[in-house]
Amino acid sequence: MCGIFGVTGTAKTAADNVFAGLKNLEYRGYDSWGVALRDTEGIQITKQVGKISEGTMEGSDAYEAVGHSRWATHGGVTLDNSHPHRVGGVVVVHNGIFENYLSYKTKLEDEIDFKSETDSEVIAALLHIEIQNGSSPQEALTHVSSLIEGRFAILVMFDSMPGIWAVRRGSPLILGRGGEQTYIASDIPAFLEMTNVVNYLDDNQMAYLHGVEVDFWDLLTGEEIEKRNIEVEWDIESADKGEHPHFMIKEILEQKETIARAINQDKEQIDAFTTALKKAGGIYIIGCGTAHKAAMATEYFFAQIAGKKVNVVAASEVESFKTFIRPNTALVCISQSGETADIMEVVEYAESVDATVLSITNVASSSLARASTVALPVKVGPEKAVASTKATTGQITIGFLLAHAYADTFTKGLGILLGAAANINDMINPRYEEHIESVAKKFKDTENLFIIGRASLYPIALEAAIKIQEVSYIHAQGFAAGELKHGPIALIEEGTPCIVLGDDQETISNATELKSRGAVIIGISTTEQPVFDHWLRVPDAELAQPLVSIIPIQILSYHFALLRGHDPDMPRNLAKSVTVK
Ligand code: F6R
Repeated sequence: MCGIFGVTGTAKTAADNVFAGLKNLEYRGYDSWGVALRDTEGIQITKQVGKISEGTMEGSDAYEAVGHSRWATHGGVTLDNSHPHRVGGVVVVHNGIFENYLSYKTKLEDEIDFKSETDSEVIAALLHIEIQNGSSPQEALTHVSSLIEGRFAILVMFDSMPGIWAVRRGSPLILGRGGEQTYIASDIPAFLEMTNVVNYLDDNQMAYLHGVEVDFWDLLTGEEIEKRNIEVEWDIESADKGEHPHFMIKEILEQKETIARAINQDKEQIDAFTTALKKAGGIYIIGCGTAHKAAMATEYFFAQIAGKKVNVVAASEVESFKTFIRPNTALVCISQSGETADIMEVVEYAESVDATVLSITNVASSSLARASTVALPVKVGPEKAVASTKATTGQITIGFLLAHAYADTFTKGLGILLGAAANINDMINPRYEEHIESVAKKFKDTENLFIIGRASLYPIALEAAIKIQEVSYIHAQGFAAGELKHGPIALIEEGTPCIVLGDDQETISNATELKSRGAVIIGISTTEQPVFDHWLRVPDAELAQPLVSIIPIQILSYHFALLRGHDPDMPRNLAKSVTVK
């Protein structure tokens, strides 16, 4: 949530680079944006409401700049609430939440003329007071950071001295090194065009970027620390839309190759992962949103393939089950970004009780991957559209592979997945997409849409609902096929579209129950059934059927979004990488 980016160095292109790099972080938040630049005249701030990709900024000779692309938490989408925030000689951009900000804001209200409703401006105010009282920037940041409850990353410029200060606790900050500039951002794509050499700032660490030099300290001990330069493997091309109108469709189509990449895991890592699972007294798999649905699919795979019961909990719901996370528990975290706050909070708890943290994540350099004993990389490349697609199928692939590895049938699992990947490659073609688009046209104006699935297709029904809701804003709901008749069937009226996943006898009976109450049935299955009014064919992938079944729904959601006039890459109210609770 909220993209932040800062540049220092000798070249006078800092503001231009921040403006350009922030566009690559727009998926983190797109309510408003702002840049603070330092040139010979001092620090100047530009802010605009709306998307940075639609914004404009005048050229400048700045050699330092910080910028922010906002996803509103405290205070509405206004110019005053957008970052950077200046109080006195202090300018701040902030990602995260200052949970106890109100108590400080109330105390300071007589002294500070607050311009915004944000928690972030209170950080600037506290720093300003510290500086006024004679603290150095380092002392001020150390003290103010100790007052903040919650997860945050901040970049700060002081009028009184050049350079950018950065502090992190819970929200990501990565430095890009090399050339005549140094970069610091909430995500690597901000500076990937400039360098792939990075330093990771860890929790409770502070950095001071001045020119191309950087000093690092431990926030708690005050001691200076050294950082290792690390080369990351992401390439710029995969972070680009290329010839496609949107990232979402680009990423959907990329599944022709990305599933094969996810299958191609290091066997030693898989073995280390399964050994940890086998040693564990209990297994908890957690995730949020779509990743939680991938976790649910994995739960079915473990039951069906390995005869093993694993526990799946949405990360935000783990609180009630915390007592079951013990030193012999294996906690498996599924997360595209590896930065989601709800997950990282459980990880921190698991670490505190010495449980084993394992993960499946797309960002090999993420906080989650770095906190894991074994981190399996999803390897699908940067996912930029807010709606997860290729990362989802990558996660499901790895869940399937792990269930087979656990059952000592790894090679069999590999064979099924390779077959599915080849079939998906054939399935995704322009004619298939056109057919789905024609179905989308028929139902684009519907207010409600229901999806049913049985067994491992039940999590896919839930995931289908998320996909349709988030980009088309149609009210979509997923159900276990057999559950519909226990209540929700009352919602079915003449013409209500219902997506039916699968063609097993029981699911077809459920589809027939829906149809006899007026529903129009869109079947997604390997065979066409008389009860279907429309049919989206998927190949037979045996127990890996969830993998192939979600793809037509991703395409359908994309076309719903376009037909209803929405931007599928940046749906309203959402942001990618939810680093606030
Ligand atoms: C929906 C979607 C979200 C994410 C969720 C977790 O399409 O992308 O539901 O899956 O916010 O994010 P990660 O996987 O980054 O932890």
